[in-house]
Amino acid sequence: MKKASMISIGAYVPEFILTNHDLEKMVETSDEWIVKRTGIHTRHIAKDEVTSDLGYKAAKQAIERAKLAPSDIDAIICATISPDYLCMPSTACRISNLLGLTNVTAFDISAACTGFIYLLEIAKSLVESGMKKNVLIIGAEKLSSITNWEDRGTCVLFGDGAGAAVISLREDNHIIDVHTSSDGSKGELLITPGCGSVNPMSQDTLDKKLHFMHMAGNEVFKVAVNTLTNDVIDILAKNGILSSQIDLFIPHQANLRIINAVQQKLGLSDEQCVLTVAKYGNTSSASIPMAINDAFESGRLKNGSLMLLDAFGGGFTWGSALLKFGGK
Ligand code: UT7
Repeated sequence: MKKASMISIGAYVPEFILTNHDLEKMVETSDEWIVKRTGIHTRHIAKDEVTSDLGYKAAKQAIERAKLAPSDIDAIICATISPDYLCMPSTACRISNLLGLTNVTAFDISAACTGFIYLLEIAKSLVESGMKKNVLIIGAEKLSSITNWEDRGTCVLFGDGAGAAVISLREDNHIIDVHTSSDGSKGELLITPGCGSVNPMSQDTLDKKLHFMHMAGNEVFKVAVNTLTNDVIDILAKNGILSSQIDLFIPHQANLRIINAVQQKLGLSDEQCVLTVAKYGNTSSASIPMAINDAFESGRLKNGSLMLLDAFGGGFTWGSALLKFGGK
């Protein structure tokens, strides 16, 4: 029976690399602190490119690898917290324009770092219901544009990049299960407080730097570890799959310590884990598809490989997914 499958993956990272040593010259921090607390060594920063440029380049690669033409795509959904424009047009519409499409469903979603898991759930529903044939999902972020470069608590963490995948119906190698969730009561722990309807843009919001990301890192850390551990245990149990059967565990790349904690709880080996946090930092909704692409390009991810994905982010939102890779 035909079901939704991830039939391709693509990614793009901007060229410029910002190292921990560069950051030492900008804020009171050290390479040693950043590596010990986060596992991050470098992150890529977009200079002359905006979020839709990054998303377009990842999308183009994913469409080509799916052996499709852009005109075969009948829905484009972009997850981002750093859109080209605050309200409209959506970044998905901007990407559809770059792809040369003028008649396609296109919209953005906002689920922060869990964006790509939410995209999988939406795309699966759209293709399995028969509403759409080939759904292009994109996680794209220019987080450098919403980062306070004077705040050492956040500026060492984030980077820019994009990842994309095409979801279509196939006979085998399906998306087995997707779980998404949220708890809005803790929204203020990870927030961009300014420039929305609560604090419309004014000189005061700019002076207070409310348009940048604010995070109570340590509190987020504790909730993330507990929530993610329970979530991946649940999705494996629900589907009768043992952690030893997973070919690749591809988590959101926020912090190596969070990833290691979940890895240890599940008893996953290093060979099963895909890690990109050291070179890309936290790229929010882009981090999972960028990591899937890394595994694909290095030959670790093959047609039929069983992947376990998990993510946690602002909202709070979280989720996990089990899928066999349908790309070749
Ligand atoms: O992707 C979405 C979800 N986000 C996450 O999952 C991120 C979750 N949080 C984290 O990854 C970690 O909490 C951080 C990496 C952000 C921070 O690590 P931590 O071990 O929780 O450190 P902390 O916030 O408890 O701070 C410890 C100390 C503090 O100094 P005092 O009060 O002990 O004197 C901070 O001021 O480290 C200080 N500090 C720094 N020192 C050097 C905070 N940032 C820095 C820095 N360089 N960049």
